Amino acid sequence: AEPEVPAKPLPVAELHLHIEGTLQPELIFALAERNGIALPYSSLDELREKYEFTDLQSFLDLYYANMAVLRTEQDFADMTRAYLERAAAAGVRHAEIMMDPQAHVSRGIPLEACVQGVASVLATSEEDYGISTMLIAAFLRDLPEDSALEVLDQLLAMNAPIGAIGLDSAEVGNPPSKFERLYGKAREAGLRLTAHAGEEGPASYIIEALDVLGVERIDHGIRCMDDPDLVERLVDARIPLTVCPLSNVRLRAVDTLADHPLPAMLAAGLNVSVNSDDPAYFGGYVDDNFAQLTAVFDLSDFDKARLAANSIHSSFASEERKAELL
Ligand code: HPA
Ligand code: ZN
Repeated sequence: AEPEVPAKPLPVAELHLHIEGTLQPELIFALAERNGIALPYSSLDELREKYEFTDLQSFLDLYYANMAVLRTEQDFADMTRAYLERAAAAGVRHAEIMMDPQAHVSRGIPLEACVQGVASVLATSEEDYGISTMLIAAFLRDLPEDSALEVLDQLLAMNAPIGAIGLDSAEVGNPPSKFERLYGKAREAGLRLTAHAGEEGPASYIIEALDVLGVERIDHGIRCMDDPDLVERLVDARIPLTVCPLSNVRLRAVDTLADHPLPAMLAAGLNVSVNSDDPAYFGGYVDDNFAQLTAVFDLSDFDKARLAANSIHSSFASEERKAELL
């Protein structure tokens, strides 16, 4: 029999990735040991048993708790290297990486340590891993806008190497309009703009993110399918939606992968891409998302090529870099 040659993954851009969501259980234990932190789990298996989520909040509780092991610049750098190594194997050639600075400064970690830890690795990601990168500062929408404004001011004052801002954490009850001043300030500072909207929250949050915040891209956005007028608008304006299928299954935004709206979104002409969100928590990286989608939906090579091209077109990379990757 012919030996099986592993298929070379398509070159893709990953546009929806939380670096803290790449902390694998093994690294959580290693960092806890290095930092002398007692974990509330006695084994990897006991930790893995917690990865059974009922909704976004049940995931966020564990995601924030596990961040306790991140203390030094080195910890943030090690986490970032582990992601880039795995992403390169998944075919990722450009990555726009969110981090949640408020989740660290609120624990007493200096802003410089978390930003520098991630940014120092991203600075040479293209040489080291073949992945061009952008760092996105994501703000926690369940905290007051003043907290976000304060951290954005500090990031700008320290000339942090961020290219964009995002908005994440508990969506329902924290509409985009709460952050109008934050996005105005980021726009004035020349930053690109994205926000989570329409993951658990309603289609109207997507409209608010576009009209009130002026975002260029929507993270998740699956709930747009509840509003045909919004779908038409998103298609006409070619607004990118960074869809995360395995995340949506694990956080119960959809019942099963077979119920995921991605094929319908493609058929509607929406500018969708496939992303991993929090790969250590949701059962896979970009390649795993593609593999499971392909298994369930029988996605054609044409569909896969379109999803990959959409990811590159929808990135904040330079036109030269996009041309290299297409
Ligand atoms: N949704 C909202 N906030 C998040 C997520 C998510 O999927 N991952 C990390 N923070
Ligand atoms: Zn996300």
